[in-house]
Order: sequence, then C-alpha cells, then structure tokens
Amino acid sequence: MKKIAVIGSGTVGQILADGFLKHGREVMRGSRDPSKLAAWKEGAGAKASVGTFAEAAQFGGIIVLAVKGTAAENAVELCGIDALAGKTVLDATNPIADAPPTNGVIAYFTGPNESLMERLQKKAPKAHFVKAFSCVGNALMVNPVLEGGKPSMFICGNDAGAKGEAKAILDHFGWETEDMGAVEAARAIEPLCMLWCIPGFLRNDWMHAFKMVRKG
Ligand SMILES: NC(=O)c1ccc[n+]([C@@H]2O[C@H](COP(=O)([O-])OP(=O)(O)OC[C@H]3O[C@@H](n4cnc5c(N)ncnc54)[C@H](OP(=O)(O)O)[C@@H]3O)[C@@H](O)[C@H]2O)c1
Repeated sequence: MKKIAVIGSGTVGQILADGFLKHGREVMRGSRDPSKLAAWKEGAGAKASVGTFAEAAQFGGIIVLAVKGTAAENAVELCGIDALAGKTVLDATNPIADAPPTNGVIAYFTGPNESLMERLQKKAPKAHFVKAFSCVGNALMVNPVLEGGKPSMFICGNDAGAKGEAKAILDHFGWETEDMGAVEAARAIEPLCMLWCIPGFLRNDWMHAFKMVRKG
C-alpha cells in the first residue's frame, strides 16, 4: 500500500490523516511549521509522522492537498513540483476568497470558466491531480453514516490510473464515486462547496452530503 502524505495542518488534514491511519496506511502530515503537529503525532500512533510540505511530498506515494485555497498554488511550490510528478494528488481544496458570505453564499476567487485545480495542474503538469473530498464538510469525509445510504463524491482529473486510486480510497472511506471527467470538471465540482455550505450558514445545518440518483 502506498504511503500517504497529507499536506495540511488544518481540520481537513487531520480528519483525512486519521482516516488513512484507521484504514492501515502510513501517513506523514505536512506543515510549514511541523512543530504545530507534535501533539497530533503523539496521539496518532506508530504509523504517523510529520514533516515540512517538501518532506511529506517526498514521503508520500499518494498526496492529499488540504490547504487554504488562496495558498494552494504556493503549497504546491513548497511541496516541490518534481516531488509530485507521476503521483496521484487528491485535491480537497476550494477557491474560497477572503470575503464574508453573502446571505450564506461564500465568495470564490475563481470565475465560472476556470477552477483552482486547473491552476494547480498547470503549475505541476506531471502531477496527477484528482479533485476529491471538496464537496462535503470534514465531519462527514470518512465513513459517513447518513440516511439514504452512501453519498456521492464527485471527482475529476486527467489521469485514469490516479482516478482509480482515488476510487479505491473512496470505496474504503464509504463513498460512491462519481467520475465527472477531466480537470475542467473542477469548474463544476468546486462550486458544490458553495451549495453545500448554504444550509450551514442559513440554518446551522452541516450534516448533509450530495447523492446522485438514477433511474434504472
Ligand atoms: N473545512 C472543511 O470542512 C472543508 C471541506 C471541504 C474542503 N475544504 C477545503 O480544504 C482545504 C483545507 O481546509 P481546512 O479548513 O482544513 O484548513 P485551512 O485553514 O483552509 O488551511 C490550512 C492549511 O493551509 C496552509 N496555508 C495557509 N496559508 C498558507 C500559505 N501562505 N502558504 C502555504 N500554505 C498555507 C497551512 O499551512 P501551515 O500548516 O504551514 O500553517 C495549513 O496547512 C481548504 O481549501 C478548504 O476549502 C474544507
């Protein structure tokens, strides 16, 4: 099983790192200041380690990008473009702007005909980015139990092998995978976070997820 690097010291990084550890993976979490992850490492067991973004990116056979959207391009640079080459990068980021929501609708710094993941893919052309975990809150990312059965995780990316790795992980994490195609589909997947957040900001309702349903 490939080792996992989780680039991100925030809540999403912690939830996903703990999820991978629960499923038996070795995990290194990355931060510009790894000392802030010391307490997490203490409690996370022998398969957990911490390092800089670059150390984590070297360590991981699969990378999870869980950093602030406005910092994602910088984080990719700090990982090292070469260290990401040929690897699956699960991109959980959303391009949330530093502006307050309007009537519960968060602002994005990207426009409708572009996406953050396209910017990241251009920055690291040999990395195999797969959008994943971006359209649900962190509390439901790992093995969610919801009425209505398994929810849908919308993914996209240019590399079929990387999307296969993402689907295998999502199977373990209790999700149905909906593959929306190539990197440009991130233009549609990233805004799902705006939709997902509205009930939260308007009614403090955060425990929901999307599900694709079909006839037949
Ligand atoms: N919160 C959720 O439930 C949720 C759900 C779905 C998707 N997401 C997305 O997941 C991502 C992570 O969210 P989060 O709430 O866990 O954490 P966050 O506060 O958005 O991001 C924290 C991470 O961003 C890094 N960072 C901040 N400024 C940076 C800079 N200038 N250069 C490089 N790195 C920088 C931090 O690095 P250091 O460790 O060095 O401080 C830290 O690792 C976001 O893009 C968010 O939109 C969040």
